[in-house]
Amino acid sequence: MRVMVLHGPNLNMLGTREPEIYGRTTLVDIDAALVQRGVELGVEVWTFQSNHEGGLIDALQAEASRSDGVIINPGAFTHYSYALRDALAAAHLPTIEVHLSNVYAREPFRHHSVIAPIATGQISGLGWRGYVLALEWLAAR
Ligand code: DQA
Repeated sequence: MRVMVLHGPNLNMLGTREPEIYGRTTLVDIDAALVQRGVELGVEVWTFQSNHEGGLIDALQAEASRSDGVIINPGAFTHYSYALRDALAAAHLPTIEVHLSNVYAREPFRHHSVIAPIATGQISGLGWRGYVLALEWLAAR
């Protein structure tokens, strides 16, 4: 089993970006935790971050045929990227949308996700552990 993990814009700055909201765990730490949990679960984990909508879509299209599931934190693209939503829908893979923060407890513009309707499920507000829980769910399924 192979799981693709996509991180959207500004997530490369985790650790120093608004740590009171996103915590002090870096993206390198998150990816390492996912790879390690993947080894335990027998799941190959492939991770990618881009600040660009097209970069995420290119990666998704390139990796979809050799992936069995997607974990994605689309960052702010969550709230308005129909292009990313269309690319995820076209991939026809079980997809878990992850947010570090509880987007429903924040500004109103974060309450709406254009990704959620085509996602299998969503985890919001559980910090970096949300990614690991998403991986465990995909592996168990
Ligand atoms: C986020 C929430 C988004 O609203 C925000 O734009 C992000 C991070 C999260 O992980 O909590 O960049 O996806």
